[in-house]
Amino acid sequence: MLDHDRHGDSTGIDADAAIVPDLAGGLIDRSIYSDPRIYELELRRIFARAWNFMCHESQIANAGDYFINYIGEDQVVVVRGEDGAVRVLLNTCRHRGNALCRAELGNTKTFVCSYHGWTYGLDGTLIGVPGKANFYRDAIDQAKWGLVQAAKVDHYKGFYFATLDPLAPSLFDYLGDVGRTGMESMLTQGEVVALDGVQKNVIDCNWKIAVDNLFDWYHVRISHNSASRVGFLDQRLMMPMSQMVMLGELGHAIGGPMVSVEKQAQLDALSDEERRALDQLPDAERAKQAPIERRPLRSTAARAAMGPLGVRAMGHPNIFPNLWISTRGMQLSLRLPRGPGRTEIWWFTVLPKSFTEQQRRKARKFVTHAFGPAGLLEQDDGENWSQSTQSSRGVASRRYAHNMQMAMGQDEVLVDPSGQKAIETRVNEHAQRWTYRCWGEWLRARDWPDLLANRSPVPVGRI
Ligand code: FES
Ligand SMILES: [Fe+2]
Repeated sequence: MLDHDRHGDSTGIDADAAIVPDLAGGLIDRSIYSDPRIYELELRRIFARAWNFMCHESQIANAGDYFINYIGEDQVVVVRGEDGAVRVLLNTCRHRGNALCRAELGNTKTFVCSYHGWTYGLDGTLIGVPGKANFYRDAIDQAKWGLVQAAKVDHYKGFYFATLDPLAPSLFDYLGDVGRTGMESMLTQGEVVALDGVQKNVIDCNWKIAVDNLFDWYHVRISHNSASRVGFLDQRLMMPMSQMVMLGELGHAIGGPMVSVEKQAQLDALSDEERRALDQLPDAERAKQAPIERRPLRSTAARAAMGPLGVRAMGHPNIFPNLWISTRGMQLSLRLPRGPGRTEIWWFTVLPKSFTEQQRRKARKFVTHAFGPAGLLEQDDGENWSQSTQSSRGVASRRYAHNMQMAMGQDEVLVDPSGQKAIETRVNEHAQRWTYRCWGEWLRARDWPDLLANRSPVPVGRI
């Protein structure tokens, strides 16, 4: 299916790799937010190549359970078969391309096309063709007309991903240390279960602007001033002078507040029971004793899984390209591209199975008020992202690069004895620059072997 992209593009897009601007020097050419040729290249060389987040296992717990998602602009159905296996099928009928499955999620025995009635099994096999004998005269080989399947499907501790590219590395290797640390930040209280419903919302912005914002702790005090004034944001969240950035292979990163070594040592001295008891105190009470903010304190097991630096990183992980893990609310957000100037924002919420009803209620209240269509914060952000995107279309304004130079050349990536690497600093733009640098490498690489051979190693030392 993706042969053209592995062996040179028949569309001339390969020649267009030359249009990918050099983003060195912390200057971001605005064409990357508006040029349709760049967007097309992103669909082929990033989304069709990457491991894309699909859903949590609790959303497809039983045989026949399905969930609709996207890989770039390809709609897919994630479905659990009678054999228990999870498959990811392109949601497009092989006859005339109609979308087969129209509900966002549900349970079914078969997928029946609403156009001419071709019927597929949960494994994608074409099991029924109306008029097969009379109209086709039995001259159709059903075995050849099953649904197209993703090349690989796998999960990291219950979080399912899929890739369309058979040459992609394993999900475990793809995530690498930083990606896995990011995923582990959802599991700090043990097993989780997804809340019903995914909040969905379209914003008129380029998907990358929504992605680079998740590392942006510079805007919080300004953009979210009103949310802060009504008491919705914990001031300790800001911590502009105490930030940690972890840069990961292939463009994954974590950036934001950190727990100091001293504070972490105090936390480590607590038992899991003592941490849980602290978490359940009323906010004001807890604030006096717990560091940082209202998020659940990380367990002993989480510390082992996240590593000594990862456990202190309280910032936002991004699994390249477009999965933001919002650890405060225990949410995962996809920034799904819908053209250069539109992005569909999805919010999944997963909560620990061990949460009390009171904790669940509190979490539900937070997630519906922070992000998504009714979220205070997303309204602030979305407006900025739209305007930044809009200005990249102006003939004059698009000539002027964005400035992404904050703290460039000013910090050090240190290596812990465990092998984990991090920058301990203040508010900065390291993770944004890393994301765009890797983005350029993905777009220039002709295929996975090329990308793996030529990507930048995670930097160490001065950055
Ligand atoms: S398009 Fe699906 S049966 Fe014709
Ligand atoms: Fe924001």
